[in-house]
Order: sequence, then structure tokens, then C-alpha cells
Amino acid sequence: MIQFTETVLRDANQSLIATRMPFSVMEPILGSLDKAGYYSLECWGGATFDACLRYLDEDPWERLRKIRKACPNSKLQMLLRGQNLLGYHHYPDDVVRMFVRKSVENGIDIIRIFDALNDIRNIKTAVDETLKCGAHASGTICYTLSPIHNLEMFVNLAKEIEALGVQSICVKDMAGIMGPKEGYDLVKALKENVKVPIVVHTHATTGLGYMTLFKCVEAGADVIDTAISSFSGGTSQPATETMAYALRKFGYDNNLDIRECVRINDYFKAYKKKCFGDGTMSPVVMGTQSDALIYQIPGGMLSNLVAQLTAQNKLDRLDEVLEETPRVRKDLGYPPLVTPMSQMIGVQAATNVLSGERYKVVSKEIENYIRGEYGKAPGEVNPELQKKILGDGKPYECRYADLLEPGFEKAKAEIGDKARSDEDVLSYIAFPAQAEAFFDKRAVKEKNTFNYRIQRVD
Ligand code: CO
Repeated sequence: MIQFTETVLRDANQSLIATRMPFSVMEPILGSLDKAGYYSLECWGGATFDACLRYLDEDPWERLRKIRKACPNSKLQMLLRGQNLLGYHHYPDDVVRMFVRKSVENGIDIIRIFDALNDIRNIKTAVDETLKCGAHASGTICYTLSPIHNLEMFVNLAKEIEALGVQSICVKDMAGIMGPKEGYDLVKALKENVKVPIVVHTHATTGLGYMTLFKCVEAGADVIDTAISSFSGGTSQPATETMAYALRKFGYDNNLDIRECVRINDYFKAYKKKCFGDGTMSPVVMGTQSDALIYQIPGGMLSNLVAQLTAQNKLDRLDEVLEETPRVRKDLGYPPLVTPMSQMIGVQAATNVLSGERYKVVSKEIENYIRGEYGKAPGEVNPELQKKILGDGKPYECRYADLLEPGFEKAKAEIGDKARSDEDVLSYIAFPAQAEAFFDKRAVKEKNTFNYRIQRVD
């Protein structure tokens, strides 16, 4: 038996069309998604929250409530960056707890919680609150390759995460660089060492995804993340129907209702056509990008580097930058190459090459990282580099969030009447400028509707 998490509403949407799918597109097909027999529907968190406010003029909380109402039989799942919530800096615990509580109150059943550095202290509060709210906490391992990220390290991390009381553990391969062999070995080792179900998340970017998921299932994975076929492949997940078909032939049964899957696929096929037509979806994201396997860096990071060097008319230095990138990563103690670390390392490597002297200029973000503002580095930070940044000082020993003042009440006072609910205050905390602009527009819209109604009565 193998279970499926459908990602079309969140990760496939995020990976293929930069999270631009509005609720109005989701709405007509939610009934089928609810009936199709998925383990869960990944539908919220990640970049969806920001995209709602910034581009789609939607209240993310309202979207969640509407999905909840339309999918009464499904487990709704979200992605949360632990102490960063949905952004890239750390929030105080009162904000994290309130965010988790409101997510569950508005309809979330499963929260997948990760930290970009796999610093378990940064997922602890969110996990604890999820459990207090009676929801399912899925503790997450960010998969990465490095001399210090080996099976033993991942197994130890999984044991620590399990000890927090999570109901499942997810192996999150955000870059699609986990091959079938690595995936098989990792899931097998996890199954031997932890009791909770294992979920595998990968991307089809490098072409490894299908093989990797298959071997992970053979190794005992309980749930895999897939996207309905019309929104699968490329930078998205492997296809739901394809994985279900291949696995069934090998005796791994599933609960999917294939007729509903056909309906869902046909529906998104038509939408995909529209996205190609108006440029929302680029053919580039659909291809297979094997460069990431050669350079051992995520595809997105490589394209950022190329764009950055092209903008400075220095593309001829790309090879040097690609050689410098793993050295910078080593100096920083091998952080996983996930946003924002991947960008920070790429920019620093380019600066090191172009300025002609390593660390002559160090970005503010790298300084903050070395100070410990992102959490504990997985490995040892180059002592010389640390000395250069911190002098005789040491990185924070405590969790960075322990240094932060409570933030919810302060934000509530700051935004005042414009926020009509605690949910609004959380939107404001997460994305202040976007949320405030959204509140203003909402007020104008309502005023216009009100005038309109008065005219009608007249
Ligand atoms: Co992903």
C-alpha cells in the first residue's frame, strides 16, 4: 500500500507557474480533489501566502477556509519553514504559535515543518504548537549532499525529530538531487530507526524523481508527493497517475480513484494550455536539467548564477564561480542549498571571484549567518572567516528566536483598524507592505460595493 500527497495546489503551482494560480481556478475542481482518495492535499503555505497578497489580491486565510469547506473529506496540508514561518527571518515564539494555531483553526490538518539548516531548535516551537492544536506535525529533513551529510547524520536527525512527538517524517529533496540509490538507502535506514511513517518529497527537475520515488517506495516509504500529470514533471513533482500505475504493477496498491484523477488531469490540462498561451508557464520549467547533477547544486541556483553574471557582463567567469561555490559552502559548514542559503552562497562565490580576493567583501546575510541568526551551521565554519567577521566574538549559542521580543501584540497595535482579525495581523507580520496594501484595496472595494448597493435600493 502506498499513499499519495497531491501537490498541484501548492508545490506544482509554485514550481511551474510561480504560484500564480488563483482560487477561482482551484474552485471548480476541489470536489474531485476531495474525492480522489489522496493521503493529503498540499494546498497552503510555502509561497502561496505571499502570492495571494502580492499578486492575486486574495486573502490567504479566506482561500484556506474555502478549500476547507470544499474538501470536507481530505486532509489539508501546508508547508512551514519552522521559526521562519513563510519567510526568511526568524519570528518570536508567540508569533509562531499564533500562526500555527490559526492555520489549524482555519482548516489545516497536517503541517510539514522544516528548517533550512536542519537545526532542530528552529522547528521545535512550531511542532509543539501543532501537537497542542491536535493537528499532525510532519517533521522534515532537508536533503542535501556534502561530506558531512551522510546516512548517520540523517538518521540521528530523524531520531531527534521523532522524539519531538511528530506523527511522520518527511525527506524533503527540494532540489531534485536525491538519486534512486541515495533515496533507497536513506529511506531504508530511516525505516530501521524510526517508527513514524516516512514521506518522500522530491522534484522531477534533474530527471531522477520518478526513479527516486520508486526506489524509496521499495525501501518502505509510506507516502510520496506527486502532482497530477498535467502539472507534473520538470521543476514540479513526478506524475501522480504514472507513479500509481507503475507501483501497482509491482503490487503496491493505492486508494486513488482513477476516474477522479482523469477529471482532475483534464481540468488542469486546459488550464495549463492557458498558462502556456499567456506566458504564465514557460517551456523551460518543463525540461530536464541534468546540470544540477554535475555541479551538485540546485537548478534554480545555477540559473541565478548565470543571470547574475550575465547582468554584470561576466558570464565568461562562470566556470571559476562554479569552482568557488563548493569552497564557500565548505567555509560556511555545508548548509543545505535551499533558499535563502543557495542565493547567499552563489552571490558570495561570484563576489569572491569577481573582486579578485576571497571574502574581501562579505554580504550582510553571510555575516548574519556566521553570527548564528539562521541557526547552527551543520558543520564547522572556517575559523579564519569567522574571526574576520566576529573578531573575538562567538556565534550565538542560544536559538536566535530566544533573543526576540514577543511580536504579535506589537504588530496588532501597529496595523490598528486595518486588520479585522488575528489572521489579518499575522498576514501583516508575515508580509507587512503586501498585507497593508491588500487591506487598503479591500476597504476601497467594499466601499464601492456599498455605494453600489445604495444605488440599487434607490
Ligand atoms: Co518542493
